[in-house]
Amino acid sequence: MNHADPRYLEAKRTVDQRARSTRVRETFCDALPDSPRILEIGCGTGSMVTNLVSWGIEGFTYVGIDLAPNVTAFGGWLRPKELRWAGYKAQQTPDGGRLGATSFAFRPGEAVSWLETVESADAVIAQSVLDLLDIPTVLSAIEHALSTGGVLYAPLTFDEVTVFLPEHPADDHVLTAYHRQLAASDGSPRAGRKLLAALEEKPGRTLAVDSADWIVRPKQSTYPADEAWFLDRILSMVGNALEDADEPEYKVCEEWLATRRAQLRQARLQYIAHQYDVLHQWPG
Ligand SMILES: C[S@@+](CC[C@H](N)C(=O)[O-])C[C@H]1O[C@@H](n2cnc3c(N)ncnc32)[C@H](O)[C@@H]1O
Repeated sequence: MNHADPRYLEAKRTVDQRARSTRVRETFCDALPDSPRILEIGCGTGSMVTNLVSWGIEGFTYVGIDLAPNVTAFGGWLRPKELRWAGYKAQQTPDGGRLGATSFAFRPGEAVSWLETVESADAVIAQSVLDLLDIPTVLSAIEHALSTGGVLYAPLTFDEVTVFLPEHPADDHVLTAYHRQLAASDGSPRAGRKLLAALEEKPGRTLAVDSADWIVRPKQSTYPADEAWFLDRILSMVGNALEDADEPEYKVCEEWLATRRAQLRQARLQYIAHQYDVLHQWPG
């Protein structure tokens, strides 16, 4: 399942923005010290940097890591420009940018092994990525990387409910196979509940949890922004999960996909993915 497609990651931003919980985000911003040191794992194209600036966080030092060099390179190229287009005096650096006392850099790398090499971060951000990782392993690495009182902000953590509308008789069949593929990797389709349970065993306190479902619907016979592309990529990911199916199963799924693609073209397809925003603080 390849999420590291710059256009998919950029297309999902309007969906993310609607989904993220204001309450959890405000609690996260309040928990940060002045001039925080922020790390992000699975940073994709680094759109979180633009969010942090727009949320009023100043003077932060940010490093984002992603397995895919194409998305980190894209983020390093785009983010300073995007901030300038929004009126900020951002400057380009070799792997990111600067904005007054704020600096940001995007680097290719593996999340867990990288977190094990760093320490004293005030925050680790993990958006839309914990379903791809082994939760106990990544939590130990996050704990290592954080300073005392540091926080984990994990927005948009998937929790095994995917809905497409209108309903189709093969939905359960297809979506079970889709979720099974997530379970076959290091990750889990139940990342949301596994994260909440694992944090119960950790020192500190889970400061805020809220549901943060992705909901994509057509409005007046069209999808907002680039969300038709986003849905097209989601359908491809479901399709990829079915590649190893035997012939009868494959035929059922092929028909399902063809129906869903036709509904997308007709702007009739709706999509919901159930997710949580989670904020946990280790003891100060
Ligand atoms: C669904 S995307 C989310 C990207 C970004 N956080 C966002 O919300 O736009 C998941 C990202 O995690 C990255 N990823 C997956 N496993 C990883 C790992 N073990 N270490 C670092 N990055 C990883 C993928 O390359 C992909 O860019």
